[in-house]
Amino acid sequence: MTLAHRDALLSELCGQRWPYRPLLDALDLPINSDILDIGAGAGQLLMCLHERGHQGVRVGLDPVPGPGVLCGQAETLAFPDASFEVVLFVRSLFHVTDSTQALREALRVLQPGGKLVVAVQGGSHLMMFWSLFGPPPEGNDPMTQRVLQEAGLQPARQDIYLAVNLSPKAICDIARTYALPEPTFAPGILPDRLHLATFVFVK
Ligand SMILES: C[S@@+](CC[C@H](N)C(=O)[O-])C[C@H]1O[C@@H](n2cnc3c(N)ncnc32)[C@H](O)[C@@H]1O
Repeated sequence: MTLAHRDALLSELCGQRWPYRPLLDALDLPINSDILDIGAGAGQLLMCLHERGHQGVRVGLDPVPGPGVLCGQAETLAFPDASFEVVLFVRSLFHVTDSTQALREALRVLQPGGKLVVAVQGGSHLMMFWSLFGPPPEGNDPMTQRVLQEAGLQPARQDIYLAVNLSPKAICDIARTYALPEPTFAPGILPDRLHLATFVFVK
């Protein structure tokens, strides 16, 4: 089971392609903007942009690239200075080996006035689900805030929440994606929410 499996389950539950569609709705990027998605993985966000009729350049980069994604490392971007109007790290900043260098490179390839976007799983993500298993994992939001501040950036924060109702089957399915044992819980629907924390810095 992979992150993609979990995203598919959560998308079904919230009725939107999680987390890409709610993120793009919240960012409301200009239709002609040139965008670099760092740590693009299978290229899902790029696909979502394409489906929304995005007209600008769309480049995805990942050391393990999916279809249509370039092979590369966040720490050494092979693009000239000021190449993009938007640079995104979607759940990827803490997967790179050197996040400080990755941010430096992202800022280099960003145009003046362009947006650097870092989106991470927030601390409230599936809190009720996690309460069935013990203490919830800490979201990546405090760490992100710290790393961005250390890089001298003062981003605006935007939290994206989506309500979901978890059936006993959904709980078991999600548990499997985390390799958790089947929980013992009272049958019924568990109201919960998805949480993506987004940090936007304008250069
Ligand atoms: C959790 S996945 C997120 C993928 C995608 N952005 C999403 O939200 O579905 C993290 C991604 O970061 C990528 N990654 C790891 N090290 C990297 C690096 N040095 N530079 C760029 N991407 C990297 C991984 O290969 C992986 O695809």
